[in-house]
Amino acid sequence: MPTKKEAKKKPVKTPEAKSVKKAQDKEMVTVFIMGKAYKVPAEATIMGAIEYAGYQIKRGAGCREGFCGACATVYRVPNDYKIYTVLACTTLVQEGMWLSQLPAIPTQKPVYDINKLEPNVATFQKIYPEVFRCVACNTCTKACPQDLEVMDYIQAVLRGDIEKVMDLSFDCLCCGMCAIRCPAEIVQHNVGMLAKRLYGKYLSRESIQLKKRIQEVKEHKYDKEYKELMKMGKEELKKKYYERDLE
Ligand code: FES
Repeated sequence: MPTKKEAKKKPVKTPEAKSVKKAQDKEMVTVFIMGKAYKVPAEATIMGAIEYAGYQIKRGAGCREGFCGACATVYRVPNDYKIYTVLACTTLVQEGMWLSQLPAIPTQKPVYDINKLEPNVATFQKIYPEVFRCVACNTCTKACPQDLEVMDYIQAVLRGDIEKVMDLSFDCLCCGMCAIRCPAEIVQHNVGMLAKRLYGKYLSRESIQLKKRIQEVKEHKYDKEYKELMKMGKEELKKKYYERDLE
């Protein structure tokens, strides 16, 4: 056991300790969060780095898995003119990254009654007239962290092809990155949402599988499974979720 005096002594920097420190330094990168430099682990996601730097993310985080679109972030890196638009929860940090989070993108959100709308181009003209200012610059597509063909679905709106809009915008997370980059100030994700609602309400064909499944639920076919799920702990549920069959 070291004496109190020995314990208080500063640790001696042996060559081994120095090399460990060097290795640790190698695995760290410097990022700028709200203009301030922080050393963070090189393998961290942007979200992990922000928390590592001591910030508590109360807004701007939801699923933490790239599904909810709450963690929109923009960044630049040294010697690169480009501004990158990404999700903080799924993007790794880089040396010199200068980042800002955009947890809530201001967008206009018209209120409409879907029951009173018709699934045609005139509806978009009335609710989102700015769509017709699209100059087909493709900036929205380049900004999409989901790699969706955003410009193509806006162009499909102009043709009144609601099914195409629904299809191309289906995986949209509504992070709003397209809207902040659009020179025509279109709110693409809300336009896509309207198309999906119109399609669901007026154009989709009846799903035989869905009908069958609803009937099975009504007949209590899954009650036993539900009960088992309800008894499971968080870890067990998580395991089951990640091991599920994906189509
Ligand atoms: S927190 Fe949900 S997409 Fe990033």
